[in-house]
Amino acid sequence: MAGLALTPALAIAPHGAWAEGEGAALPDTSSLPPSLSHAARSGGRYYGAAARADHLLQDKALRAAVLRDCEVLTPEIHLKWNSLEWRKGQFHFDPVDDLLTFADDNGLRVRGHTLLWDQSTPDWAKHEMLDKRDWRLMSEHFSRVLGRYGSRIEEWDVINEPIDTEAGARTLRRNTFFRAFGPTYIERAMEEARAYAPKAHLVINDYGFEYGNPVDKARRQAFVALARRLRAANVPLDGVGVQAHLDLSKGPIDAVGLQEMTKALIDLGLDITVTELDVKESEAAAPTAARDQKVADETRRYLDVMLAFPEVRGVVTWGLTDKFSWLTEQVDARVRAAHGANRGLPYDDAYSPKPMYWALNETLRASA
Ligand code: XIL
Repeated sequence: MAGLALTPALAIAPHGAWAEGEGAALPDTSSLPPSLSHAARSGGRYYGAAARADHLLQDKALRAAVLRDCEVLTPEIHLKWNSLEWRKGQFHFDPVDDLLTFADDNGLRVRGHTLLWDQSTPDWAKHEMLDKRDWRLMSEHFSRVLGRYGSRIEEWDVINEPIDTEAGARTLRRNTFFRAFGPTYIERAMEEARAYAPKAHLVINDYGFEYGNPVDKARRQAFVALARRLRAANVPLDGVGVQAHLDLSKGPIDAVGLQEMTKALIDLGLDITVTELDVKESEAAAPTAARDQKVADETRRYLDVMLAFPEVRGVVTWGLTDKFSWLTEQVDARVRAAHGANRGLPYDDAYSPKPMYWALNETLRASA
């Protein structure tokens, strides 16, 4: 993908390097209730956040916030194919290894994100797939990544974003995998993942299910239809991931639509993980308190629906602090200069917890 900022591979973090680092003052958590993980655990769930080893290494306030609140980490970019193997045959495992070291040292678990995503597939692999249509390219990728991490990482987003309802009747995205191998690339990829990671929890992850517009509605149906087809064919699929990139410009959350989709997926024997929760703002010029309230209210509306289902096993936010949020990259530079970062994560960019923090904490706890 054009916009993916590849960070230079980290030198392997020497043991103890995590104790150093720059960064803001440590978050003042004296006024906070017990952590988000504590709240989630009381309901039999986990809470986690997406993170990058280089950020953790640099920023001790981030480490403090992660250690306070998270039980699970998702590598935000470094497990993606174009980060692991930007050039064919040249591998960059260090940033993932570093994250795993940090996780192991601190008793955290890691979600595997993601084996196949069109947007994070390196160009050389896309060309090779389309030219040769040789599945061995895929098997080798799976065997390499799962061979290295399959036993340490217990939960995998095997396929990311396979749905597209705007491209024809089948409702599968016409991504490179589809074009090279046909619609059954999905089944084959799931089988492949099962072969290399027999005990892992295998997931398909997608976005765009929350709102009342026709596209989201069609996407909910398409997601259930895909899951139904895979379950009927006995394809190894244990659960689904719903990204939950909420967006305040999209009108009210369609609670009924969301409930129906969730229930249909559960009825298929799947469990559900909220994998990438954050809130994109629509009125950056409003006073900060009002902005933060809207973000918190949206979070609460969403989790009130989802956490009514015990089969929702965990909630992961796509970052923990507005300082490191992919949404801030998407805010127009002038808006950002005038109004600062998008405020769609639990901590602001100076590590003050915001109303979203309490919304998460209370909904996770209330659902116990
Ligand atoms: C995003 C990262 O946050 C960015 O830093 C990167 O440039 C692109 O990918 N859906 C997903 C995630 O499944 O992997 C994406 O992460 C955000 C959208």
